[in-house]
Amino acid sequence: MMAYPANIEQRINDLLSRMTLEEKLGQMSQHSVGGPISAQLKDEIRKGRWGSFLNAGSPADRVEAQRIALKESRLGIPLIFGRDVIHGYRTIFPIPLGQAASWDPELIRQAARVAAREASAAGIHWTFAPMLDITRDPRWGRIAETLGEDPYLASALGAAMVRGFQGDSLDAPGSIAACVKHYVGYGAAEGGRDYNTTWIPERLLRDVYLQPFHAAIRAGAATVMSAFNDLNGVPASGNPFTLRQVLRNEWKFDGFVVSDWNSVIEMVPHGVAAGPREAALIALRAGVDMEMVSRSYYEHLKQAVESGEVDQKLIDDAVRNILRVKFRLGLFDKPIPEKVAAEEAPPDAEALAVAKKLAAESVVLLKNANRTLPLSKTIGRVAVIGPLADSPVDQMGCWVMDGKASDVRTPLAAFRDVLGAARVAYAPGLKTSRDTSRAGFPAALEAARRADAVLLFLGEEQILSGEAHSRAFLDLPGAQEALVEEVAKAGKPLIVVIMAGRPLTFEKVAARADAVLYAWHPGTMGGPAIADLVLGVESPSGKLPVTFPRTVGQIPIYYNHMNTGRPPSEKALGIPTGTPVDPQGFDSKYLDVDFTPAYPFGYGLSYTTFEYTNLRVSSPSMPMGGKLTVSADVANTGTVEADEIVQLYVRDLVGSVTRPVRELKGFRRVRLKPGEKRTVEFELTTADLAFHNAENKLVTEPGVFHVWIGPDSTRGLRGEFRVTE
Ligand code: NOJ
Repeated sequence: MMAYPANIEQRINDLLSRMTLEEKLGQMSQHSVGGPISAQLKDEIRKGRWGSFLNAGSPADRVEAQRIALKESRLGIPLIFGRDVIHGYRTIFPIPLGQAASWDPELIRQAARVAAREASAAGIHWTFAPMLDITRDPRWGRIAETLGEDPYLASALGAAMVRGFQGDSLDAPGSIAACVKHYVGYGAAEGGRDYNTTWIPERLLRDVYLQPFHAAIRAGAATVMSAFNDLNGVPASGNPFTLRQVLRNEWKFDGFVVSDWNSVIEMVPHGVAAGPREAALIALRAGVDMEMVSRSYYEHLKQAVESGEVDQKLIDDAVRNILRVKFRLGLFDKPIPEKVAAEEAPPDAEALAVAKKLAAESVVLLKNANRTLPLSKTIGRVAVIGPLADSPVDQMGCWVMDGKASDVRTPLAAFRDVLGAARVAYAPGLKTSRDTSRAGFPAALEAARRADAVLLFLGEEQILSGEAHSRAFLDLPGAQEALVEEVAKAGKPLIVVIMAGRPLTFEKVAARADAVLYAWHPGTMGGPAIADLVLGVESPSGKLPVTFPRTVGQIPIYYNHMNTGRPPSEKALGIPTGTPVDPQGFDSKYLDVDFTPAYPFGYGLSYTTFEYTNLRVSSPSMPMGGKLTVSADVANTGTVEADEIVQLYVRDLVGSVTRPVRELKGFRRVRLKPGEKRTVEFELTTADLAFHNAENKLVTEPGVFHVWIGPDSTRGLRGEFRVTE
C-alpha cells in the first residue's frame, strides 16, 4: 500500500467545513467535453460547478482549466482530468487481452508506466483502466479489453497495471490514478450482448468476478468505476452490496467510485428508478461518489438534502473520497506548468522497446506443422497477403484515443525493412476484413506463386471489437476463408497470422495453414514484433489467457469449469464440427462438435521443446494454515533459446460444494537456453486453496488435492497432497 501524508484528512475536513452544498455537488460531477474547454465552461469551473472532466480539450486547455480551478475558484480545488488510457496513450501496446497472453506482470507494469508517463505529460491525472472484468464469452466485444477468463491471471496482471500507472506514489512525476472497472459482473452479459443482464450467484461472484478487483484494490488502486449492468436484479451503479458491503466494509477501500457513462440515470430504463431524481438517490446511497456525464446528482441532490430526504453525511463522505484522491495525486500542491508543448512528442525509444517486447510476448503460436516456422532470414521471397498486413488503425485495436496511425509499424513495413522491399511481394487480396469482393484474389495468388513462403494476415478490424461491438458469428469475416483457399493453390508454405480483438473460430483455416500465429491487435510495434517471430529472432512464447471455442455454439467454454455428474468421456473425442453424429451415450456434450475447445487456456507453442520432469511436493500433507512447495524441472530440449510459461494448477477433489476441475494458482515465465534445465518452485498455502462455501464463507476444506505443473491447462505432471484439520 502507498503511504500518504498524515495531514490529508485534516485538509479535507477543513475544506469540507468551508464548502457550500453546490460546491460539494460540483465535486461529485464529471463532465465530458469533446473539444476545447469553452469560455462558458471556464466560468463554471470558476464557480466550482465541476470536479472532473473526461476527454477534455488539448493539453494546453487542460492546463488553463486547472489554473482557473486552482487560482480563480473560491476554494481553489483542482480538477481531476480522466481519460481512457486503456492500452497506451501515444504508444499503443497490445490490447489488454493480448497483453494477458504474455503472462508477464513485470512487462505489463512497464507498459502501464510508459502510458502513465505519456498521459501525465499531457495533463491527464487519471485513467479508466485497468478493466478487470472476467468474461467467458468471446462474442462480447469488450473481451478485447479484459485480461482473460481466469481470476488468478487477471488479478496478477491487473495489479501489475495498477502499479505501473500509479508508480510508487500517486504524486510522483509520471504517475496517474488507476480506475478499476467495471465493478462488477459486466463481463457476464447474457449472450455476450454488451450492457446486458447478469446473474451471478454470490459464491461465483466472490470466487471469480470479484477476485481481480480485490487484488487491484490491495495493490492500491485509487478509484473504481461502477458498471452498466444489472447484477442479480440490482444495477451495479446502484448496488449497496457490491459498493458498500464488499468494497468499503470488507475491503476497506478509501478512494472514490465514479459511475460509468450515464450509468446513474440508466437506472431509469433498467426499471429500478422512476426518474433521474430517484436514480441519483439510489446511486448515492449505494456508494457512487462521482457521476460520469449525466447530471442527476447536481440537479436533484441539493433539494433532496434540504428536504431532509438525504443525509448530508452521504454527500460529505462522497466528497471526502474524491478530495482524498485529489490530495494523494498532489493536485493541490503541484505547480501549474508554465508552458505546454504545441505538439505531443512521438513515442520515444524506451516506449517503442517496451511495446515491441510486449507485442512479441503476446503472440501465441497455435500451430507449427513440420517446423514451418521460423523462416530462414535467407529465404528468397515472401508474399505478404491479407487485409491486416498493412492496416495501422486496425493493428492498434479498440479504445485508442491518442495513438497515431503514423507511429504504427505494420507487418508489411517490417518485412520490407528486414528483407528489403525487393524480396517482399504485397497483395492484400481483400481491402478490409469484411470485404467480400474477390477482385484482389488473382494478384494474391500470383504473389503467392512467385514466393517461397506466404504470410497471410487475417483477422478482424479494430471496430469489430470493443464497447457495444459484440458479434454473434466468430468466423473470419468477409471472404477471408476463401482467400486462404485461393492462395493455398500456390502450394507454398502458408503462415497465417491472425490479428483480432477476441478468440475467433477458424478451424478450417487452421487446418489449411502450415503455421498459425495469433497476434491479437498488437499495437504500435506489432509489425517488427511479428517479423522477429516469423524470422526466428525470437521464439513465440505467449499462452492463451482465454479458451478458444471451435464454434460459437460451445460458448460458454472455459477451463475452470465444474466436472458435472456426467462429464464427457474421452471416447467421445473427435466428433467433427458441424455434422451431427449418432447419439453417443448420456453425458455432457454435443453431437456435432467435439467437447474440447479448439485451443485450451494456457496453450501456446514454441520453436523449442520443453520437457517437464520430477514433480515434487514438499510434503504429503499440510495442516490448516500451513504451506508447502511444489516444484518441477523444466528443460529446454530443443535447439533454440526461448521463454516458457510454467503453470501451476490445483483441484480440490471433494468439497462441500462442487469445485472446478482445475484452477490456476501460480505461473512463471522462465528463459532457458538449449539444453538448460531449471527447477521451478511454487509455494502453496492453505489460504491459496480457499473458496466460498454454500454459506458464502471463505473456507479451505480439508481433504485431498491434485496439483499439476505443466505447459497449459490440460497437460502437466500431476502430484497430490492432503490438507488436514
Ligand atoms: C464507457 C465505458 O464503459 C468505460 O469503460 C469508459 O471508461 C467510459 N465510457 C469513459 O469513456
